[in-house]
Amino acid sequence: MDLNGKALSDVIKEEIAREVLELTSKGLRPPHLVAILVGEDGASKTYVKNKENACKKVGFNSTVMRFAADTTEEDLLREIAAINENDQIDGLIVQLPLPAHISEPRVTHAIDPSKDVDGFHDVNIGKLTKGEDTFISATPYGILQLLDRNGIETSGKHCVVVGRSNIVGRPMSILMSRNDNPGNATVTLTHSRTRDLASYTRMADILIVALGRPEFVTADMVRPGAVVIDVGITRVDAQNEKGYVLKGDVAYEEVKEVASWITPVPGGVGPMTIIGLMQNTLKAYKQKLANRTA
Ligand code: GUN
Repeated sequence: MDLNGKALSDVIKEEIAREVLELTSKGLRPPHLVAILVGEDGASKTYVKNKENACKKVGFNSTVMRFAADTTEEDLLREIAAINENDQIDGLIVQLPLPAHISEPRVTHAIDPSKDVDGFHDVNIGKLTKGEDTFISATPYGILQLLDRNGIETSGKHCVVVGRSNIVGRPMSILMSRNDNPGNATVTLTHSRTRDLASYTRMADILIVALGRPEFVTADMVRPGAVVIDVGITRVDAQNEKGYVLKGDVAYEEVKEVASWITPVPGGVGPMTIIGLMQNTLKAYKQKLANRTA
């Protein structure tokens, strides 16, 4: 059966919108998210547009700051410092990837951890690793909610994660093994150097694939009845109006015949990622409010 991220994201968006309305009806300003976009990467532009649209839908203020591909790191860091100081801004994300001449770690560390709604700052990753309250980065956060709100039990299950990126695979593996719900799974983290990968994926009760290789996971790699979460979203050239189609890391048509639950691409993890970001922005806003009134 499909794990429908689009439908769940619509439900949660309504919940967030109601909460924002409650706040603004008390005379408070709405939460404000700033997204920085450097350069002209097509996929990044689409992602930022989707985030902007989601903000509008839930009643947040949003600002997209666009910088040319040849912007210097110094200029970018100066802008981030100004946003850190701006009390009218609750959350800041810098869309990745950045041009090669800009250091991703330096940019990530420049963001005030209390505004780091992507959860990429070392402080927030450290808290996540220790199981402390923090901003869980958007994709893992969205996946946790997709599992939770569809009543999928994770405790005691074997979760196999494919891909060890800082954005998805590694945090996902930490979250699934934590002593919490969802969590309490036995986790195997696999990656490009794993020998005989299929022998691991076939052992998974919950298989989370974040590799970026279109249709890499085929039906013979999946245990019958497994839950399959497909994080991949790659543009593959096609003879259509856009010139591409979006493909996940899982061969959906054949794997859906074997899996108990599977996320489609698009309409699975993608919309839930945006929800995670909206929830983190609301959380940052509320924390700021609590600090002001404390
Ligand atoms: N690039 C790919 N995924 C992400 C994300 O979740 N946040 C940001 N800022 N950039 C990304």
